[in-house]
Amino acid sequence: AAAATEMAPAASGEEGKAFVEEMRAVAMRLHTKDQAREGEKEPQAPPVAKWEPSVEGYLRFLVDSKLVFQTLEDIVERAAVPWYQKISIFDYFDRNTINGSYTDAEFRNTGLERSEALKKDLEWFKQQGHAIPEPSAPGTTYATYLEELSEKDPQAFICHFYNVYFAHTAGGRMIGKKVAEKILNKKELEFYKWEGNLSQLLQNVRNKLNQVASSWSREEKDHCLEETEKSFAYSGDLLRHIFT
Ligand code: HEM
Repeated sequence: AAAATEMAPAASGEEGKAFVEEMRAVAMRLHTKDQAREGEKEPQAPPVAKWEPSVEGYLRFLVDSKLVFQTLEDIVERAAVPWYQKISIFDYFDRNTINGSYTDAEFRNTGLERSEALKKDLEWFKQQGHAIPEPSAPGTTYATYLEELSEKDPQAFICHFYNVYFAHTAGGRMIGKKVAEKILNKKELEFYKWEGNLSQLLQNVRNKLNQVASSWSREEKDHCLEETEKSFAYSGDLLRHIFT
């Protein structure tokens, strides 16, 4: 905790502003005006309320989402294992040493993990007689990209980590509710249930993100923020399964 409070103010830019607020501001601007109050982009797709989802399309979204969450979870898990020798995001966690003890478990077991919940949901669909598809291009492409970033670009990786988990608790939840109303008889999936207090879980992760970013230069911070558009593009490709 000491590192976060004793950090020197950034040399330029948004001094004193917690980095997560910067990440959030960039993300909110990339929403369309119909998606969120702070959105600035013109809509290019129908608004969520107009979506006509099918179970098949929604399943493709859930399967690809599971792959993406599983990939994020595997990466942070690996990063925390000391004997993991590869040059990877582990080296970067090494730099975040606080009072001699590693904070390498940073993003493990945050309570936001979604792959187990999605596994249960897919089992439920299967019991209902639906065929579960294999992951498709939007999911596999994103998973491969995340693996790549975890090896060579920790700042960009963190941008995706933030956006994927936080988007799911905001717009993602709203989308889940609308879809459930239309095609699942309001069945609430495990994907949208968290153990414990969600706002507290989110706040804990915000604190960790701020802590990690406190060791970044202004250039590294900007590099992370600049990745937000890609995060929207990849996640947008997953969401498109639901309304096409
Ligand atoms: C927050 C809607 C897609 C990232 C939000 C909020 C809404 C929303 C309503 C809450 C705004 C508030 O706090 O007042 C939507 C809808 C989407 C969508 C309807 C698509 C149809 C995305 C995508 C990403 C994303 C693709 C990035 C991958 C975020 C982030 C937040 C957010 C990071 C901030 C969450 C927080 O501060 O806790 N979104 N969003 N959203 N969204 Fe989205």
